[in-house]
Order: sequence, then C-alpha cells, then structure tokens
Amino acid sequence: MDNIKAIIFDLDGVLVNTAKYHYLAWKRLAKELNIDFTIEDNERLKGVSRMKSLDIILEIGNITLDDDTKNELAQKKNAWYVEYISKLTPADILPGVIVFLKSIKANGIKIALGSASKNSMLILTKLKLKDYFDAIIDGTKVSKAKPDPEVFLKGALELNVLPCQCIVFEDAQAGIDAAINGGMLAIGIGSKDILKKANLVLPGFSNIIFDNLEL
Ligand code: BG6
Ligand code: MG
Repeated sequence: MDNIKAIIFDLDGVLVNTAKYHYLAWKRLAKELNIDFTIEDNERLKGVSRMKSLDIILEIGNITLDDDTKNELAQKKNAWYVEYISKLTPADILPGVIVFLKSIKANGIKIALGSASKNSMLILTKLKLKDYFDAIIDGTKVSKAKPDPEVFLKGALELNVLPCQCIVFEDAQAGIDAAINGGMLAIGIGSKDILKKANLVLPGFSNIIFDNLEL
C-alpha cells in the first residue's frame, strides 16, 4: 500500500446506488420494445456507455434499428433516468463512503472519479461530493467504454500518478476489467461471485478506512 498515490472511484453503484435507477429505466424501455430483460442481463450493462447498453438490450431482443431510432430510445431512457435521480440528496451516498473519502485525504492520497456516465456532474452536485475529487473523468471526456482502461488512465494522467500507483473501486465486471487492463489494482464493491477478477471484493464501505485496507 506504500506505493499507492491515488484512488479512482466509479460512481454508479459504488458511491451511490444509482445502478438501480439505470436498471429501472432500461427495464421500462425494454418493456416498451417487448424485450424480456432480466436483472441478470443487467450485469452486462453496468459500467458500459448509454449507447452500448442499448445495443446489448437490442441484441438480447434480437432487434436491429437504425441510428436515429437508437438515439431517440437512448434519449428516452435518459429522460426517465434523470427523472428518477432528480430527488437524490447527500442522504443517498452509500454507507461509509464519506468516512472512507476523508481517511484517504488524511493520508495525502489523491481522489479521482472514473465513470462512464454523462450525468456524473449532476449526480455529484446533488450528493454534494464534488469537492472531494482532485480529478473528474466522466462519460463526456472518454470515447472508449470500459473494459477499455481509458477513463482510469485519463484519471491517473490528470493526477500525475502512474497506473500502478492507483486503486480503482468498481461495482461492474467491465470496470474491474478496465482497471486491470490499465495496470491498476481493482477492488470490487459487491459480490465475489460476480466480480471474480477483482484483487479484493468488499460488500461496501461500512467500517472501511484507507489505513486498514489490505491488498
Ligand atoms: C455507468 C453505469 O456508470 O454509466 C451504466 O454503470 C451507464 O449503467 C453508464 O449506462 C452511462 O451513464 P449515463 O448516465 O451517461 O447514461
Ligand atoms: Mg458502476
């Protein structure tokens, strides 16, 4: 742990449980398209971009659509999603996150966000979390979706640290792969059965401080 200089956090499903709202909005869209979309299928959507998520749903339903229609559907899903998250407040930050963030800062470690979401800024503002971050890389700044490591490598670059000096916290398989592909340590938030490749998996941040992390 001595060489660790930065921690990069995914947003949805790690700092706040917006993953459930993404699922609800996609499920609503899938229903309109008569596609049977399950919570198991939803694991494939975690961490990947809006358009790639739509492509996965259409693939499940065996449906091919032109780009204009796909853009309309993606916008529709996003409008529902934004409506669902409109009531987010700091009380929605997941348990233990603030204490953990403070313990990182107290150790002189930098903090970055590495999220595929174009709604990241909106969410961080609602949660009043923005000031904790030394760098924010979100869906508006990247062109390659996780498992490509672009989002995390850009974070490391902006913080002026090496990939091997970073730990990534992720709730998505694609995100764990992205961290590993970028040469970073990956800590999964969730279940070991799903996040098999992570260096460590924690159920959440309750009772976790930086000083006690063991990798
Ligand atoms: C990721 C989520 O953080 O952001 C994905 O895990 C989501 O489920 C992606 O598709 C893009 O989010 P948005 O808010 O730009 O549609
Ligand atoms: Mg996530």
